Amino acid sequence: MKATAFAPVNVAAIKYWGKADADLRLPANSSLSVNLTNLGTTTTVEWDKNLTADIADNRMVEHLDRVREIAKFNLKARVETKNNFPASVGLSSSASGMAALTLAATAAANLKLKTKDLSRLARLASGSACRSIPDGWVEWVKGNDKTSYSKTIFPTNHWDLRILVVILSQEKKKVSSTAGQKMAFTSPFYKARVAAIPAKITKIKQAIAKKNFSLLGQIMEEDCLNMHAVMLTQRPPLVYWLPETVRVMQAVRQWRRQGLESYFTVNTGQNVFVFCRPRDEVRLTARLRRLEGVKEVRRDQIGSGAKLL
Ligand code: PMV
Repeated sequence: MKATAFAPVNVAAIKYWGKADADLRLPANSSLSVNLTNLGTTTTVEWDKNLTADIADNRMVEHLDRVREIAKFNLKARVETKNNFPASVGLSSSASGMAALTLAATAAANLKLKTKDLSRLARLASGSACRSIPDGWVEWVKGNDKTSYSKTIFPTNHWDLRILVVILSQEKKKVSSTAGQKMAFTSPFYKARVAAIPAKITKIKQAIAKKNFSLLGQIMEEDCLNMHAVMLTQRPPLVYWLPETVRVMQAVRQWRRQGLESYFTVNTGQNVFVFCRPRDEVRLTARLRRLEGVKEVRRDQIGSGAKLL
């Protein structure tokens, strides 16, 4: 009873920050993301009758318990997992990690769950993990326990965009997303952010449908800064940026004014995702690599959701 799955990192254009229910990991607002092709986690799960305890870290054991409950057995598992990028630095390793674990553990248990049920299960392990299950452009509708899952809203090949992953530092964040989200409600801007999300989602979907890159980028960048405004003003405040993070943001905006169009977004960490059109990818990568403090730029594109290998 063994299976291996790959799940991609997903990058949210409309972010999730704050929960309506922490135990069920129900978000305060819906969110919208794309999966990447290259960046991701590969996980192998083997349910083994000879094991007396799981060989996995604590957060994974909690998730294996959920799978055991669905499978109605009490077997223990051996889990091997590998990210092909640095973890805990704002590149969404918990999303790809928990999505890969969900698919590998259920497949190894011979449970053939539908995409929506896999997504719902992944949500319980890490909210944003539910967006790494379906393909391409994904919306996570906030919903209730049964209806809160992600689905594809535009397929992987709908629009060929490039995402540059700008790695500035591999220093691990001091406050996890899970811990940080708990205090989101203390920001005076939090309620206003949540209230404005439905209109933003409607608008960004229109931008994606019409392949309007400028509008997509503008909404995405604004939403990133809006979420960080909440983080910066919560109690205690969360400052995930480094000076280098701001340098990349400023450069992207300056190059844009000069005609090289790209847009940034940042999660809970110092590193930056930059969206651009295929024709600008090489030029933009070269410029980003020359910026002071940039350690590495990985080129990526829009990809499928979690898959069995
Ligand atoms: O799923 P979590 O608890 O790792 O939260 C992810 C939150 C952000 O990455 C900051 C935003 C998002 O929607 O991906």
